[in-house]
Parts: sequence; C-alpha cells; structure tokens
Amino acid sequence: MAERPYIVGNWKMNGTRAMLAQARAIDRAAQNLMKVEVALAPPFTLIHATHREVEQIGVGAQDCHCSSDGAHTGDISATMAADAGAKFVILGHSERRQNHAEDDALVRAKAEAALAASLRVIMCCGETEDVRDAGEAVRFVTDQLRASLPESLERAGEMLTVAYEPVWAIGSGRTPTVEEIGAMHRAIRALLLELYGEADGAAVRILYGGSVKADNARELLAADEVGGALVGGASLTAESFMGIVIAAA
Ligand code: G3H
Repeated sequence: MAERPYIVGNWKMNGTRAMLAQARAIDRAAQNLMKVEVALAPPFTLIHATHREVEQIGVGAQDCHCSSDGAHTGDISATMAADAGAKFVILGHSERRQNHAEDDALVRAKAEAALAASLRVIMCCGETEDVRDAGEAVRFVTDQLRASLPESLERAGEMLTVAYEPVWAIGSGRTPTVEEIGAMHRAIRALLLELYGEADGAAVRILYGGSVKADNARELLAADEVGGALVGGASLTAESFMGIVIAAA
C-alpha cells in the first residue's frame, strides 16, 4: 500500500443536511488516524456545508462541467465547486459514463477544466463484466485511461489520483481477486510512468473501488500498487466508513 493511503467516500446521490452529522463524526475520528488521508465527496448541495463543518478531511465534488461558466442549466463548473470548498473532483465515474453518456473526450475536457481551477482530479476507469469475461479488461481500462487523462499534466503526483472500479463490482458485493486487482494496477502504473515520467508517474496514487467494506478492506488494500480506496455505499455512515479507514491505517 502507498505510504499514506487515501480513502475517499463518494456519497453519490445520497445525503441531506442530516448527513452532516456523519461528516462531522468521520472528521473527528480521522483526526486520530493521521496516517491515512481521508476525504468525502458529498453531493453538490452539501459541499459548502461539509467544508465548513470539517477540519481534517478533504472535501470534493462528484463531477463538474467542462466549461468555466455559461448557459448550461443544471450544471456546476469546476470553479463553482472550488468556490464552494471542493479541493478535488471525481471524474469519469462509470455511473456518469453510463447514465449521462460521458465519453472519454468529455471526461478529458472536464479534467482539464478541473485542473485549470486548481482542483485535484480522481479519474475513474473500469471494465464491464462482458469485457472482463472476454479477457480484455487490461486493454480496455488502459485504452480508456489513455483517452480520458490529460495529455500533459504538471505535478501529476499531487494533482491526479486514478481509481480503478470494475463496473460489475460497484454496489454488487462482488470484487475481483487480489491477483486481478494487482495485475490491473500494475498495468495502470506502467501507463502512468509512460504518460507522466518516472517521478510523477510513480507518485500518482491508484485507488481500488467496488464493494469495499470494513471486512474486506485489509485484503483489497494489500493488493499490488493499491494506494487506497474509493468507497460508495460503505461511506454513508461514519461507522462503516471508519472501519475501512482503520483497516488502511
Ligand atoms: O465511487 C464509488 C464506487 O462506485 C464504489 O461503490 O462501494 O458502493 O461499490 P460501492
């Protein structure tokens, strides 16, 4: 695992202001586990309030538009997310790719907009079950990443995190084997070295995401080149999320 593992909770479309109590509890608990970098991505409506409530953990957005402003009803720009208190943004999540028809070119444009607004990027990638069954997972994921990541990126180790999330593992209770995760993460690492050079490519953390829970976190986080986890369902309560953070410590 990375020197300082990174555990990020993605609340997806969950949470009203009542959820701020969970954010406060996570923040308090994280203050005793400084070995782990902890962050939450609440829905847009809670970014500002979460940012004001917490001291220790990072706060980010789950998406942003590729333009900085303009006539885009219902959309939020990277600048607006940053202004609300976001320090990072999750991009290219399979739920955005599937439900909003986001292709690699759009994901790349969003990443460039986010970086221009000084937001760190968590870039998601992952294969469907059909692709894995066809033996094409590594090729698919590296092609997807190559087309989605910014072509040039300064301070990649600081500004970029990659999250490998097999689509079939998200919310399903199923996970790849530790060997499958290790093989994928090694291939992603090789791509990052090629794209961003030795030092920066080695410094980018690669998270695993997909049905991470307190009881499987230790095993999954021990896989080769895994620098942390992107957690969905189990990030919705402080108790289940902190179980994962403790496993990472
Ligand atoms: O962003 C998080 C992932 O989609 C994983 O979700 O932990 O509910 O499987 P999950």
